[in-house]
Amino acid sequence: MQTEIQPIQNINNANHSQNIPLDNMETVVSGIRPTGNLHLGNYFGAVTNFVKMQDDYNCLFFIADWHSLTTHPKPEDIRKSAYTILAEYLACGLDPEKSTIYIQSDVKEVLELYLYLNMNAYLGELERVTSFKEKARKQPDNVNAGLLTYPTLMAADILIHKAIKVPVGKDQEQNMEMARKFARRFNNIYGVEYFPEPQSYSLAGKGIKIPGLDGSGKMGKSEGNCIYLIDDAATIRKKVMKAVTDSGPTEPNSQKPEVIQNLFTLLEVASTPDTYKYFDEKWNDCSIRYGDLKKQLAEDIVNKIAPIREKIVEYSSNTALLKRIAEEGAEKARISAAKTLSEVQKIIGFTNI
Ligand code: TYM
Repeated sequence: MQTEIQPIQNINNANHSQNIPLDNMETVVSGIRPTGNLHLGNYFGAVTNFVKMQDDYNCLFFIADWHSLTTHPKPEDIRKSAYTILAEYLACGLDPEKSTIYIQSDVKEVLELYLYLNMNAYLGELERVTSFKEKARKQPDNVNAGLLTYPTLMAADILIHKAIKVPVGKDQEQNMEMARKFARRFNNIYGVEYFPEPQSYSLAGKGIKIPGLDGSGKMGKSEGNCIYLIDDAATIRKKVMKAVTDSGPTEPNSQKPEVIQNLFTLLEVASTPDTYKYFDEKWNDCSIRYGDLKKQLAEDIVNKIAPIREKIVEYSSNTALLKRIAEEGAEKARISAAKTLSEVQKIIGFTNI
């Protein structure tokens, strides 16, 4: 198919190219680990917000490839996986003319800030982070220091651009608390009001958690319960039709058990308010047929994803374009990062005598 994707023209003339935030624009930063294809959790929890925020904020969105090293990916996969997410970002509507889009490992300044923040991060607090405890339990043979200091690297990603808003899903709450704590601690230690305290952000006004279709918990790559943006219609239909349900409501207006609430949560993000209302009424008067709900949900997901999927295929095959976008994004991100880093170095005391 002939590509309809616009080449990025005049990128160097765009407002954002110097990465000087317009005075009234707050800075937004977020990233996703390249540990597989994007799924509906990433999409509704994070990327839809990225896309909507591009016009109103100074946005920087990156691919967190250093974070993915905690599980030791193969060398030949590192760059490929980053480009997969880059292609998917673009397919979802991230626009390099509006946002700075880069690969984390292309901006080395982040590492120096990571080191400084690590000097003020304490073993006890890092060990108490829930995701660290969970991962340490799941991979007892690989409880590495990178896993332990995951939250300081994430704080460095955010603070290196002095971001105020961070669009993330609900599962990142504790990491965000740590980022605020590290910002506050740095300011206190050096007696400066330097780093702003970054806040999690969702346009819906609440942290979003997209559930899996297997009955409990969140949709996640390691849970193996994902619908991917790259899934075709038949795959999506099959996955949705297999979603766990129960034997149906026994009295009117009863509370939905978790497995059913999960389907309604997906309806809420993927379908229209009318569709949601229709099935909610059916639930409440006990006439609901889960087969109908699943069929409708599957079609609504297919319709949302089909155009994205097409674009993923197009962008993925255009390595030259991806390379150019990554290079130009890194260049812009480095300007912003270098500014912060030189100020931080001065605050810490790395100045000429
Ligand atoms: P990661 O790669 O696990 O997930 C990327 C984004 O997708 C969101 N997400 C979900 N939201 C709702 N429901 C779900 N089921 C679901 N699954 C994933 C996540 O909340 C996240 O927003 N630590 C981050 C990556 C990172 C980062 C950062 C984020 C590194 N540095 C700086 C923001 C700022 C992570 O592991 O995301």
